Amino acid sequence: MSVRAVITGTGRNLPPRVVTNADLEKLVNTSDEWIRERSGIVERRWVETGTGSSDLAVEAARQAIDAAGIRKDDIDFIVAATLSPDYYFPGIGVLVQSELGLPNIGALDVRNQCSGFIYALSVADQYIRAGTYKKILVVAAEVQSTNLDFTDQGRDMAVLFGDGGGAVVVEAHDSADGRGILSTHLFCDGRFASELWMEHPSPKYNPTFSMEMITERKTFPRMDGRRVFINAVERMPEAVLAALAHNGLETKDLSLVIPHQANDRISLMVMKKLQLPEERIVRNIQRYGNTTAASIPIALDEVVREGRLKNGDLLALTAFGSGFTWASALIRW
Ligand code: UT7
Repeated sequence: MSVRAVITGTGRNLPPRVVTNADLEKLVNTSDEWIRERSGIVERRWVETGTGSSDLAVEAARQAIDAAGIRKDDIDFIVAATLSPDYYFPGIGVLVQSELGLPNIGALDVRNQCSGFIYALSVADQYIRAGTYKKILVVAAEVQSTNLDFTDQGRDMAVLFGDGGGAVVVEAHDSADGRGILSTHLFCDGRFASELWMEHPSPKYNPTFSMEMITERKTFPRMDGRRVFINAVERMPEAVLAALAHNGLETKDLSLVIPHQANDRISLMVMKKLQLPEERIVRNIQRYGNTTAASIPIALDEVVREGRLKNGDLLALTAFGSGFTWASALIRW
């Protein structure tokens, strides 16, 4: 019997505090009009202080485990993606394991930013195909609101990012019915590492964390938005086309595409490049902003709970972000 990895349960967790563009106008030199026009975002969620990515991941994970109809003790491995871990170390995988009260299973942390969920899913897929694990919890969560630069220097990013978490349970299934993850394609180009990054604190320097880093505002995330944008609109469709070609499929076979919710204009350009009608591309950035690694599992949970995916549908996931990294996954639902 050949084995495929099937997503059997999904979950999401958005903090209750809604921050509208009007709220941001009081903190940042910006306007509701600019944010809507340039990004499509209307509101995002922010945590209250004391809530970490691991906390957001845990609730999403509980929902995914319930939806899969398994016992939490059946989970035999965790893969966790975030760019905003609770601590510099350890990663959030171990915190999720402990908070869920899971046995001493392994937990792997993935650091691939906006592409983190697809990279994490690819790890789960490989372990399941190899027969190493049978039921893997994949979580992705971000708390970004606590480290945004509200000065003019950081306003491009401050208005885009939001907090949230998503999770899926991935299980080993007989491939006979054709369901499951068909392939994952992962890419990066590290020459662009400093185009979207958080430079400090950095153990490369002694001391790792200095007052100078803070006064120079180098402890905030920074990006060259235009360069990110131009690359994202090329790389995400390319990654989907690579996945389709690999599986002998075409864009007309796609039931739904979930692009990483980076900017609604990016999602619309991905839609155009793939020549898809509007109803086949998932867009929820209006409500949550850019939640980095969490954006795809959050959107996936929404479409699953809305009944927008039926058995046999072909689903593509694609992401682009810091690294630069980009990726796709093709899934027969
Ligand atoms: O998940 C992956 C991570 N990031 C992304 O995917 C982001 C990709 N990039 C983008 O989404 C867009 O580049 C932005 C939304 C960040 C910016 O949109 P843009 O159309 O590329 O604008 P721009 O960077 O060309 O900036 C236009 C102007 C600038 O003013 P000047 O120089 O033309 O006078 C900015 O200073 O808009 C100004 N600006 C703002 N104005 C009001 C930048 N941020 C803001 C702001 N409010 N928040």
